[in-house]
Amino acid sequence: MNTPLRPGLRGRAIIGDFFHAPVLDRLEILFDTLIEVDEVGTISAVLGPNDPRRAEAEARFGDMLLRLPQGRYGLPGFVDTHVHAPQYPQLGLALDAPLETWLNTYTFPLEAQYADLEFAAARYQLLVEDLLAGGTTTALYFATQHVEASKLLADICLALGQRALVGKVAMDDATACPEGYRDATPEDAIAGTRDVIEYIRSHPDNQEALVLPVVTPRFTPSCSDEALAGLGALALQYDCHVQTHCSESDWAHGHALSRFGVTDAEALDGFGLLTRRTVLAHANFLSSDDMDRLAGRGAGVAHCALSNIYFANSVFPLRKALERHVRVGLGTDISGGPSASMFDACLTTVRSSRMLEEGVDPDLPAERRGRPRSAVDLVAAFHLATAGGGDVLDLPVGRLAVGYRFDLVAIDATARSGGIRLFDLTEPTAIFEKIMHGATRANVAAVWVDGHQVVPSPTGEAVR
Ligand code: GUN
Ligand code: FE
Repeated sequence: MNTPLRPGLRGRAIIGDFFHAPVLDRLEILFDTLIEVDEVGTISAVLGPNDPRRAEAEARFGDMLLRLPQGRYGLPGFVDTHVHAPQYPQLGLALDAPLETWLNTYTFPLEAQYADLEFAAARYQLLVEDLLAGGTTTALYFATQHVEASKLLADICLALGQRALVGKVAMDDATACPEGYRDATPEDAIAGTRDVIEYIRSHPDNQEALVLPVVTPRFTPSCSDEALAGLGALALQYDCHVQTHCSESDWAHGHALSRFGVTDAEALDGFGLLTRRTVLAHANFLSSDDMDRLAGRGAGVAHCALSNIYFANSVFPLRKALERHVRVGLGTDISGGPSASMFDACLTTVRSSRMLEEGVDPDLPAERRGRPRSAVDLVAAFHLATAGGGDVLDLPVGRLAVGYRFDLVAIDATARSGGIRLFDLTEPTAIFEKIMHGATRANVAAVWVDGHQVVPSPTGEAVR
């Protein structure tokens, strides 16, 4: 598959109004700012209106300067740190059962269908198009157990220009995985994972490493000790990312405790699966010691606030994890979480953290109802959905700063068909809040990944 030529900003510059949150508690407003992009898609200068280099830069770029029109605002592209690509057809469905039932009743049968590559191609194409159109410029994907369909997902991300990390799901335990949808042996789980890693690393259209491979044991209940150990060795050998689910629900957490006699996180560490490039999805039941272990290894958490409401029996103690120096990004967990939008992920993160702080049972007295100092605000959630995700993945994305990749979403806050109504607001933080609460796909006017434009304006005209 050839990568199509896309209009882009490589070797050019853009002037406009931008928001980003380089640290947890600071929204930076870059009004009337010029962002320069080098020939390989890296931000090489960020020049405010009073920067002494600004006039020279404007003159130098001349016609090659793109100006965001009035009413458009640039945000760093979103980093979704937990997506089950094959579950997209099930988005909004099958939310009526606990995790272990949901997997067997709905999810494994759906995923098994991706053995059919035609079935897979149509669904993966729509998913990647939709995520890009919603502003997700980087996605960490679980594919399925199938080697060929996992390769196909990587092909589609490359063809559409999405930064992606793709893992063939390893699942070989016959007691936890259905006949017909599992790796036949631990060796198969390991060899299939290796095959997909090598395919992605040597892909002719992937010379810039836009797509990266990921070692992906589904979760400890679905993998034998032999598979887990072999996958840990692969992660070390290939120095690649690792993703899995960890201590997601009472059942999953208890399963690990009774099988290993230690927590899921400790067991994963023992298999060599807790590294600087590991992302643990959910992780709701991490102990304080587990959090310290993650912080020590540099491993991160994909916080999936919406999915947790349905499947995790609890609210992830986000503020506590951050205070213990655990890296955290946000994830939609399509389709455990019934929304593909990272705007939604931000809002649900804020709301669930407030419910954890305040508590939910009105029969309890206020002082015993919640967990103090748990709430995070919108800026923190936006930080985690962008820069935090980049930090978890160890990738230079999520900030509008020199040295970062130019992954940008242009929001048209004036789109009639969108959900943002600014009225006569001019105060920047109010505009930011309106964008975060109101933005829909119709407001996403343009998206760039690595300096390439991957989403045109909804009117069909490129923002040039
Ligand atoms: N645990 C194991 N597999 C899954 C999955 O597909 N989704 C979620 N949310 N948890 C899991
Ligand atoms: Fe998940």
